Amino acid sequence: MPFRDISEEKLPEKIRIVGGKQLKGEVHISGAKNAVLKLMAAALLCKGETKIYNVPELSDVVIMLNVIEQLGVKTSYDRQEKSIIINATDITNVTASYDLVSRMRASFIVLGALVGRCKEAVVALPGGCAIGERKVDFHIKGLEALGTSIKIENGYVHAKVRKLKGCDIYLDIPSVGATENIMLAAVLAEGSTRIQNAAQEPEIIDLANFLNAMGADIIGAGTSEIVINGVKIENLKPIEYTTIPDRIEAGTYMSAFIATRGKGIIRNIFPNHLTFFNSKLTKMGADIKLIDPTSIEVSCKKRLEAVNIITQPYPGFPTDLQSMAMALATVADGVSIITESLYENRFMQVPELRKMGADIHQERNHALVKGVKCLTGANLKASDLRAGASLVVAALMAEGTSTIDNIYHINRGYELIEHKFKMLGADIVKYNDDENDIINQNKGNYSESQL
Ligand code: EPU
Repeated sequence: MPFRDISEEKLPEKIRIVGGKQLKGEVHISGAKNAVLKLMAAALLCKGETKIYNVPELSDVVIMLNVIEQLGVKTSYDRQEKSIIINATDITNVTASYDLVSRMRASFIVLGALVGRCKEAVVALPGGCAIGERKVDFHIKGLEALGTSIKIENGYVHAKVRKLKGCDIYLDIPSVGATENIMLAAVLAEGSTRIQNAAQEPEIIDLANFLNAMGADIIGAGTSEIVINGVKIENLKPIEYTTIPDRIEAGTYMSAFIATRGKGIIRNIFPNHLTFFNSKLTKMGADIKLIDPTSIEVSCKKRLEAVNIITQPYPGFPTDLQSMAMALATVADGVSIITESLYENRFMQVPELRKMGADIHQERNHALVKGVKCLTGANLKASDLRAGASLVVAALMAEGTSTIDNIYHINRGYELIEHKFKMLGADIVKYNDDENDIINQNKGNYSESQL
């Protein structure tokens, strides 16, 4: 697939939802955005054609393809098969430009892969985003510990190393991105690298599985200590690999079934990735049944009970589902206390939920949510991906019509969201104000222009 700039393309900007419809039916969960983006970077380590399956059609994936193509690497996307091919036989450029990295901070992950493969990288610093400062100091300290010399100039990280040498690295916070960047660089280092206080998210395990299938030697992914025994580039072979399902997308659909007191089956998930989330939903009164190893049935017949939640790194309650839990708490019986402990500014949904009648008192990273009987539709704005998705959940259960602006945030992480919710009986449509154009009324929006 050739490099394409998607910034100028006209996609629907808003969603309109008429709430109050009980959702019913089955939904198939897509591949995990936060896994596939890292697998794409990992493909840079190895010469030859790597094929990744279960790739969701999302704007973030497009940006990552663009970043990789900017490095001179050949890529192609097969929409039918939901696969991408990355042929990293030649990397002709080691610069990831600000233009792209600033559009998707996760693309900073190419730093570790380029340092590993090319011993050199120039990658734009992503900066903060709506949900917080989101520093990358642990990524940089980790690469420096491996022997990389790093200079920050004009907003770019300039990294250079003659020979990467394995070492022990202790992370002050179990950062997902830092764990991944260090893992990628350490695969081709000399000797062993031990990451202590490593992130344990399923996406880290997926990355380690992918790299090991390619010929890397990584032990302990999914625990707080990961050991990467360095191998030679000749040991790495291109592979075919299937991305894990998106646990956050699954949690969002679970929340929507529960919010509307509906009943539905969520297919293509790994239920054990959602253990903590499930236990909180069950405590609130939802009914969650395992129906086969990759499917669950979710229902809710009665009013939810209030619950207290503190977000934590995996396996704790996921920060990415905090806003979904808050949407549910707005109509639960009693007072819920929700504490966000990972990001400084991840309560962006609060003012929007208040417009719908929610009773939320926020102090710093704590929110006191006093359940009301029901929410009412309002004109809303998505400020970031997960805050935006929680507004969709809230709008689906609210009385009346809601509109949600800035849905490009939501498109970053939810494949075919309009289509999937429509199939479950929701009254939802994407549209643009200026064209007065209700897009894909009947067939769901699988926009050709997204890739
Ligand atoms: N942090 C630092 N210094 C660093 C790295 C992180 O201070 O060098 C701080 C961050 O500022 C943040 C905390 O540590 O406050 C956790 O950050 P982490 O590095 O773990 O997160 P990330 O790798 O930037 C990934 C996901 C996020 C998800 C978090 C936590 C991707 C592309 N993003 O971010 O997903 O919230 O892990 O699970 O994998 C999303 O999908 O909406 C999303 C934001």
